Parts: sequence; C-alpha cells; structure tokens
Amino acid sequence: MSSKIWGGRFTKELAPKVKAFNSSLHFDHALYREDIAGSIAHAKMLSAQKLISQKEEAEMCNALLDIQNELESGLHQFNEEHEDIHMFIEHLLIEKIGATGKKLHTGRSRNDQVALDLKLYSRRSVSIILSHLDSLIHLLDILSSRHATAIMPGYTHLQQAQPTSLGKYLDTYACMFRRDMDRFKHSTKSLDLSPLGAAAFAGSNLPLDRHYVARELGFSGIVENTIDAVSDRDYIIEIMSAISISMMHLSRLSEDLIIWSTSEFNFVELDDAFSTGSSLMPNKKNPDVLELLRGKTGRTYGNLMSILTTMKALPLAYNKDMQEDKEVFFDSINTITSSLEVITPLLDSIQFNTQTMADAANSGFLLATECLEKLVLKGVSFRDAHHQVGLLVKEAIEKKLSLHEVLHQHKDE
Ligand code: ARG
Repeated sequence: MSSKIWGGRFTKELAPKVKAFNSSLHFDHALYREDIAGSIAHAKMLSAQKLISQKEEAEMCNALLDIQNELESGLHQFNEEHEDIHMFIEHLLIEKIGATGKKLHTGRSRNDQVALDLKLYSRRSVSIILSHLDSLIHLLDILSSRHATAIMPGYTHLQQAQPTSLGKYLDTYACMFRRDMDRFKHSTKSLDLSPLGAAAFAGSNLPLDRHYVARELGFSGIVENTIDAVSDRDYIIEIMSAISISMMHLSRLSEDLIIWSTSEFNFVELDDAFSTGSSLMPNKKNPDVLELLRGKTGRTYGNLMSILTTMKALPLAYNKDMQEDKEVFFDSINTITSSLEVITPLLDSIQFNTQTMADAANSGFLLATECLEKLVLKGVSFRDAHHQVGLLVKEAIEKKLSLHEVLHQHKDE
C-alpha cells in the first residue's frame, strides 16, 4: 500500500522522478501562512457545525499555530517528499496530534483550499503594493510642487518640442501611478468572496457553513457557484495585468531618468547609493537600478503571458495545469514589490539640475509654437503663421542665431 495521504487505491509508490516533477512544495511554501489561517477558520467551522468536538478544534488550532511558529523559525525543510504545502502542513499536523489531525480535511479538497490560499495571498500582496504606490505618489506630489516653476524642455519623438515645467513632468508620473492604484483596488473586488466549501468542485453533502469561514477570514461573502470557485484564476490574471501596466510606467520613468542622467543631458545626478561603477572604466557611474527596473518589466509581461497561456482552453473544473499559476504570480508580486521599494528612495535622493534644464529650454526653438500662436492672435491664419515661423526657424538655423535674435533683426529692418 502507498504511504501517501491519498494512497488507499494505489499499490505502488510514485516513481522518484514523478515525485519531484509533481511536487510544488519548493515554491508553494510561500502560502504557508494563508494555508494555516484557512485551516484554523475551517476547524472552527467544523466545530461550530458539530462535525468535530470543541476539544478537537482547540487541539487542531494550537497545533497549527505551533506549526506556523516552526515554519517561521525554519525548523522544517521544504523538499519533494511532500506534494505541496497543503499536504505538508496536514502531514505535520497528523504527526503532532495523530487521529484528530486526520479530521481537519473534513469536507475540504485541495482544490478549494488552494483557491482560498491564493485569494488570501493576493489580498495581502495587493495591499502591500498599494501602500508602496501610495508612498511613491506622495513623494512625486512633493517633488512636483517643489519644482512647479522649474522650466525644462518638453519632448515629442525625443526632440525638443515646447517648454514645460519639471513639476508638471513629475506630476504626469503621479497621474499614471494613481491609475495603477485604481486598477489594483478594482482587482480586490474579486478577492472579496471565499471559495472554501466548494470542495473538489461540487460542494459537500456535509453540513458545512461556508459563510462562517468567509466571515472568519474577513470576506464579505462566498463564491456561490462551486465550480467557479475552484476553476477561477481571473483574479490572478487581473493582478498580473495591473502589475504589468504599473511596471510599464516604472520602465518609462526609469528610461526618462536614464536619458536625463547622461553627460549629454545632465538633467539629473543619481545619488551614489543608487548607482554602480564599472569593473573596467574608472570614470563610469551607471544607472543599473533604473536599467534593472526597465528590464524586470519584461519579466512581468512574460509572466502574464504564461498564466494566460496556462489557463487557455482548460476544461472545468480544476486541472493540475493550474499549479503552474504560482511561480509566475509570486515572481510578478516580488518583482513589483522590490521595484517599488527601490524607486521611491532613488527618486527621493536624486539631484535635479534645474539650471541645466532651464538653459536647455532657452537654447533651442522651443518658443516657435508660442510665436505662431501670437501671429494667430494678430489675425494671421494658422497655416500661414506656421509657414512664417518655419521660415524664421530655418533662417535662425542657417545664421546660427536664436529665434529671438532673428526676430530682433527683422524688427530692426
Ligand atoms: N498543489 C495544487 C495546486 O497548486 C493543489 C491542488 C491540487 N489538487 C488536486 N486535486 N491535485 O494547484
């Protein structure tokens, strides 16, 4: 007979390679806190429904808390001996309290258990991301009001276009990150319903109280359709989309700062604590952090494509393919969290060379559009005014003069 928790109908042990191939413990151990919180709520409900005694409930809950402490202090190895975090914790529980531990899984399947763990994990992760975004926006707000009147060139096609202010430029990023916050908040709506009690997919004939567990874990209700409860991974896809868009914004901010930190631009000076040197060229100061932010954005897109592809055309309800949701999801969460943790202090320590920016705004032909608009106000048609100012710019380039100087020459004539 197999020693597995599900081993009753099996006559052989799993082949060693299959054991390793099948196991998700080396990555889904990240869910241990959520798994234990879910199990404690489930045990309380089983006791309230008289499916286990109060004594058994207390024994289970105490042992689960002990297991949590042991996991936190690194007492247990996560290896492929165990199939996943759910099996592992149940195994530790049975090891601790014997027969009582075997009652924990009453009315539950790993299908609704993993869905619950993932929702709890998502809820915790989104709230961390939201608080990081909030700090970043707060800093951008401070910086943009500090530099509200600092003139700099604005660009389209990365060519000097019209003057703008550094304050407005930075506020643009605050607008982008505010939209990101909305997207993350929106994704939390689908996290508010508990899937537990759906069991494998069909629910259970046992007198479970799904609402009890939901209340206990802070959900506002339950996923009514039990097939949907175990098949749905939309919330992961939504969060990973929101992460990808937010990382795209971070990559644009990074790119602007990378360009601005070149000797040619010299609009900003990165703090030494946020730049790195070259192993060969002693003169170099590299914006590695910003380049990594830009690069990591690609990873989050890849992760999003991976989960979409995994979920594509999966029949209902649970399929083991869905175990593949975790590594990419955790990776995207960790990537945006660490990115936000570095960008805010980097931005806080950056030096803006506002004089260089102002000089750059004065040196080109950035006021050409303003000249055109002045002519329009004097009654010249837009197209004629465009042409006239275009000729003046051409003349200024040929004579190596500024637009102002050419205008003065014309006035004197
Ligand atoms: N480790 C599995 C996962 O992450 C848990 C659910 C397994 N369910 C099952 N019936 N094999 O998807």
